[in-house]
Amino acid sequence: MSDLQTILDGIHEELSPRRGEGKVATYIPELAKVDPRKFGMAIAAVDGSTYRAGDAEEPFSIQSISKVFMLTLALGKAGEGIWTRVGREPSGSAFNSIVQLEHEAGIPRNPFINAGAIAVTDIVMAGHAPREAIGELLRFVRYLADDDTITIDDKVAKSESQTGYRNAALANFMRAYGNLTHPVEHVLGVYFHQCALAMSCVQLAKAGLFLAARGGNPLTGHNVVSARRAKRINALMLTCGHYDGSGDFAYRVGLPGKSGVGGGILAVAPGIGSIAVWSPGLNKVGNSQLGSIALEMLAARTGWSVF
Ligand code: DON
Repeated sequence: MSDLQTILDGIHEELSPRRGEGKVATYIPELAKVDPRKFGMAIAAVDGSTYRAGDAEEPFSIQSISKVFMLTLALGKAGEGIWTRVGREPSGSAFNSIVQLEHEAGIPRNPFINAGAIAVTDIVMAGHAPREAIGELLRFVRYLADDDTITIDDKVAKSESQTGYRNAALANFMRAYGNLTHPVEHVLGVYFHQCALAMSCVQLAKAGLFLAARGGNPLTGHNVVSARRAKRINALMLTCGHYDGSGDFAYRVGLPGKSGVGGGILAVAPGIGSIAVWSPGLNKVGNSQLGSIALEMLAARTGWSVF
């Protein structure tokens, strides 16, 4: 598949003049410091080969992409029982919206909007002190990517905890409805640290590979989840992974994907490989502007699609 390296290099070169497009997230002050011209891409293929272009080895704040890994942990811990606490429908609203919570009895629409992710974090915390839950997630992503150098950026976590008023509102609202079982400040502490995971495109593509390989990681030989569970997580990424931009992403790219406000996107081509892109500038709905375009070009040039 050396063709794939040529395709990746071609996309990187073509889009390089557009680096810096979009708006870097500033509501988490630490994220505003990132160089907007960063641009990396990586692919981990199910045949064990990896491909990279640009700033593919530089760790960035994966933010909401961590919600995929936390959801996988929650399903492992509580199984399908989690769906009494969080829904599986696209929200059609912004990632940090509070509007549906009141009409829908404090049950968030899906595990990828902030409210849903906070509920999922609460599920993973069962039986754990907050510090242990953070440790469990860190061990999990290191195991998935087969890379012990992955860390959490404490400055980003702190920066978000100092400005996370909206997430505090969502968490308090859910707690009032009985949909959080731990103290709000503990759940938020874990949530802010999970979002502050720092990973490179290469690490992220490797960590997401189990979703492309029927639940197993061909690089390590580990069986992470069942094929059925991998399919279901992919379905949620396709329908909800880009918030109110999910329909547009499915239309343009045609692959399950999860974005983060750090400018990263993890996309999955089932049976083929997982792809990570990073460009910090965001579009109007908070997803990486250049990253989405790069994935659209990659899907067009390779023919990868779930449709
Ligand atoms: O909770 C927040 O607002 C951030 N830690 C994560 C949001 C995010 O990544 C939304 N993605 N596009």
